[in-house]
Amino acid sequence: MRKPYIAGNWKMNLTPSEGAKLAAELKDQLKGVDVKVMIAPSFVTLPAVVEAVKGSNIIVAAQNVSDKESGAYTGEVSCQMLKDLGVNDVIIGHSERRSYYGENDEWINRKVKYALSQGMNIDLCVGETLDERKGGHLKEVLSRQIKVGLSDVSAKDMERITIAYEPVWAIGTGMTATSDDADDAHAYIRGLIESLYGKTVAENTIIQYGGSVKASNAKELLARKNIDGALVGGASLSADKFVPIVRCALE
Ligand code: PGA
Repeated sequence: MRKPYIAGNWKMNLTPSEGAKLAAELKDQLKGVDVKVMIAPSFVTLPAVVEAVKGSNIIVAAQNVSDKESGAYTGEVSCQMLKDLGVNDVIIGHSERRSYYGENDEWINRKVKYALSQGMNIDLCVGETLDERKGGHLKEVLSRQIKVGLSDVSAKDMERITIAYEPVWAIGTGMTATSDDADDAHAYIRGLIESLYGKTVAENTIIQYGGSVKASNAKELLARKNIDGALVGGASLSADKFVPIVRCALE
């Protein structure tokens, strides 16, 4: 059985004090709720959020990480720095990193491998643009992102990988994939994982959906066989919006 996993990607929002306030609200309102929950603040907001969620099961993740150990890499943040803060989870390959900051599949794979070697858990994002979908390239794009993104990752390491399927055209646009379209893409991704790692790994891998998830559509999406959770952007920025999404995963 795959346990539902709801994650909030705060992106470049919420100062340390704002983040600490929201994290404390989430800690309070999610007490006793049996859903795996993660929140991903900006790097500078991480310490305040780690402190605020202490004593809860809320996982705190970074939104990105370097593929290097240390050294002259201005502006980068390493796994070691995150782990020193108590942060053991990281989102890698978000479409905004791919499109605005030029991260390609090979680079993403280097980050995945390095973060795994440092014992971290990874939420690896994949998804097609509108042009790619319209052009009939959905499967080709997902296949490349999964195969290259996970290249040299062992079956054992897959226990520490979550996949987030986020169609780029649905991110922050209010457009959600229909639950049929999303479930089809998730089934395709699960099939790719099966071809790489076998049935047991494929059946155990959590695949989240992301792209304009809100309380009003979460229930329908999460009810689908292959949709095991959500990666939420905009609606993760307030407890009023995020907590009801987490609760949808209980039903
Ligand atoms: P959104 O973002 O929920 O605002 O569409 C999702 C994401 O990019 O992770």
